[in-house]
Amino acid sequence: MRIRAALAACFLFVGTAPVFAQYTHTAPSDDGIGIVYMGREIAHVMGHEGADWLERPERLTQEQPDRVIAAMELKPTDVVADIGAGTGYFSIRIARKVPQGSVIGEDIQPEMIDLMRENVTRASVGNVRPLLGSTEDPHLPAGTVDKVLLVDAYHEFDQPLEMMRGIVRGLKPNGQVVFVEYRGEDPAVPILPHHKMTVAQLSSEMAAVGLHLVRRYEELPWQHVLIYGR
Ligand SMILES: C[S@@+](CC[C@H](N)C(=O)[O-])C[C@H]1O[C@@H](n2cnc3c(N)ncnc32)[C@H](O)[C@@H]1O
Repeated sequence: MRIRAALAACFLFVGTAPVFAQYTHTAPSDDGIGIVYMGREIAHVMGHEGADWLERPERLTQEQPDRVIAAMELKPTDVVADIGAGTGYFSIRIARKVPQGSVIGEDIQPEMIDLMRENVTRASVGNVRPLLGSTEDPHLPAGTVDKVLLVDAYHEFDQPLEMMRGIVRGLKPNGQVVFVEYRGEDPAVPILPHHKMTVAQLSSEMAAVGLHLVRRYEELPWQHVLIYGR
């Protein structure tokens, strides 16, 4: 009886998958915050002071945004949410691919939202809506989004379970979540370890919110493109 009560306190059921809901703590690594979720230490948030790095010209060859967007298989009418959108680097490019749809560019840093607004105005795209979220809720309207994109962002979420529940709530029934993450399996990828992700780790974390891997694109120099659905 006591064991059953202890298990009930430790586990939370989301959809069909049991989820160990408690975050644990460890001594912070150089690039981590000391909070551990499903065996993974969460990375530091990239501050808005580093925003120029997101707009660096080399990014076109290093991260190949056009190929990422092609892998998303967008329709012109799609509603897309770019979560952890930073300066809107992807939001603006996607907006041009969904002329009859729209893009929500969400981030938790007001300074990033300001930079995104400036970039959206400069790019003259009328279908990007910058949105300030919180670390536990992206504030997406329920059941409205065709595709969610998270580029180099998920590993920074300090409450990933709560964020993913909010993202799943925002998806249409056939909606998909597209992750672009530096390959954690490859030590040669020149990125700090907690800013990378393995497919096995991400798939375990997505199972916790009822998502499974439906497609992957592995033609980028350093990153996985992993597409999850219900
Ligand atoms: C490395 S930047 C990537 C920005 C953008 N996706 C890009 O590729 O240009 C990570 C972004 O995720 C944002 N972020 C971190 N935690 C977040 C959370 N819980 N919810 C939304 N955004 C978050 C940060 O503020 C930062 O702008």
